[in-house]
Amino acid sequence: MPGLQHVAIIMDGNGRWARQRGLPRIEGHRRGVSNVREILKVARDLKIRTLTLFAFSVENWQRPPEEISSLMGLLEFFLERNTRELVKNKVRLRVIGRPEELPEGVQKKLHAALEATKDFKDYVLQVALNYGSRTEVLDAVRAFSEDVAKGKADPNHLDWPLFSRYLYTDGIPDPDLLIRTSGETRISNFLLLQCAYSEMFFSPVFWPDFGRQHFIDAVESFHRRQRRFGKTGEQVTEAPTDEAALNR
Ligand code: IPE
Ligand code: IPE
Ligand code: MG
Repeated sequence: MPGLQHVAIIMDGNGRWARQRGLPRIEGHRRGVSNVREILKVARDLKIRTLTLFAFSVENWQRPPEEISSLMGLLEFFLERNTRELVKNKVRLRVIGRPEELPEGVQKKLHAALEATKDFKDYVLQVALNYGSRTEVLDAVRAFSEDVAKGKADPNHLDWPLFSRYLYTDGIPDPDLLIRTSGETRISNFLLLQCAYSEMFFSPVFWPDFGRQHFIDAVESFHRRQRRFGKTGEQVTEAPTDEAALNR
């Protein structure tokens, strides 16, 4: 779909979905994971090339240990059950965050799924796991400084295209649309730099209930908006945006 290549989602509200029904939080997470399968299908039907899902933040380690281990278990289950589907649909899996700090069982399944899908070019499912924007910036600055020390990079030539190559999202275009479910209207340390010019869509619906039609509504809302990237509305209707101007 022209103009909409990349949708990022903060999948929030699993716990409240469960509480409303008198169920344990993990039941909400279970329903959340099955909803991921549904949203993957819709995104694919709409020919959205990149879908980024916020699955676990660096801050989520502060949750009770039982909830963390259930989430890790669900993640393993998801990877095991869906790798074949990703291969069938020719979707490349990508991870952003610090996967090396995840439990070994998750890392193994992740590695297998990444390996099995690495050659696909057209569609990308990017999962944010143990992700935080500030951690990402620190990792990028560290890697850049190491390259400077080795003489491989020059701080005098640092511009946005160069710096963005050190981010976890290297090679992936910025999200056009950021969706957050559950009624919260905050970013929670997600893709702070990459969402500089993303359109935001906040839905009151809890993630397990955020279905096909809700996703389509978000996409339609996106298409009704005018993205100006700092220009005037008149300029935007007259000429396409000069991407280079965004990168200074
Ligand atoms: C989102 O749902 C899933 C994760 C953060 C892993 P929550 O678990 O945050 O659900 P609420 O916000 O407590 O309802
Ligand atoms: C953001 O949701 C993280 C994920 C969806 C994985 P949180 O539920 O952790 O965010 P806060 O704490 O409400 O900001
Ligand atoms: Mg939450």
